[in-house]
Amino acid sequence: MKFFADTADVDAIRELNELGLLDGVTTNPSLIKKSGRDIIEVTREICSIVGGPVSAEVVATETGAMLAEGRLLAEIAPNIAVKVPLTLDGLKACKVLTGEGKMVNVTLCFSANQALLAAKAGATFISPFIGRLDDIHLDGMDLIPEIRQIYDNYGFETDILAASIRSVNHVKAAALIGADVMTAPPSVIKALATHPLTDKGLDGFLKDAADAGIKIA
Ligand code: E4P
Repeated sequence: MKFFADTADVDAIRELNELGLLDGVTTNPSLIKKSGRDIIEVTREICSIVGGPVSAEVVATETGAMLAEGRLLAEIAPNIAVKVPLTLDGLKACKVLTGEGKMVNVTLCFSANQALLAAKAGATFISPFIGRLDDIHLDGMDLIPEIRQIYDNYGFETDILAASIRSVNHVKAAALIGADVMTAPPSVIKALATHPLTDKGLDGFLKDAADAGIKIA
């Protein structure tokens, strides 16, 4: 499973990248706003840190304007994935942009039928939003096996990018089902490494090592 960081915070991206845990980045207009930086400038910096796909989202809603924005974003770096919303205009833009050889991430997906349309439009990634479905008292994770089955039934090559991931349990469930990628805030990615028994066990080993005077280098 590939790990993307869902953030426009370059320090956090750098830290995860140095850990060797990062396969890409996703951003959206809200995350850009949170960064307080210009979209082009911050996206360019992210692309200089991460070699994998970096999703940058259009803000236009009509196909022609989405294409203009998407082409500008794609000029930032070769690893840009243009993010378009799952609307009819967005699907049209997806088809054109992927036809030009650009990566496209179709975002704001909340149903299996929407995911089917994105695959038919040639999307590189489909982003089902798990947490936001949970927010309205549905089980967002139900969407992942549905999309997995539909894509496998027809051999669609669109990668399932589990998005709006809010917890380590979301990550585990998405991985068990077979999502190709998950994108999560850096805090969730780092939390995957923690376990109270790991901390307790390490304390014990370090104490015994000190008692025994163990020195290795
Ligand atoms: C995905 O690409 C989105 O940026 C993101 O996962 C949305 O997450 P949220 O619902 O926690 O805002």
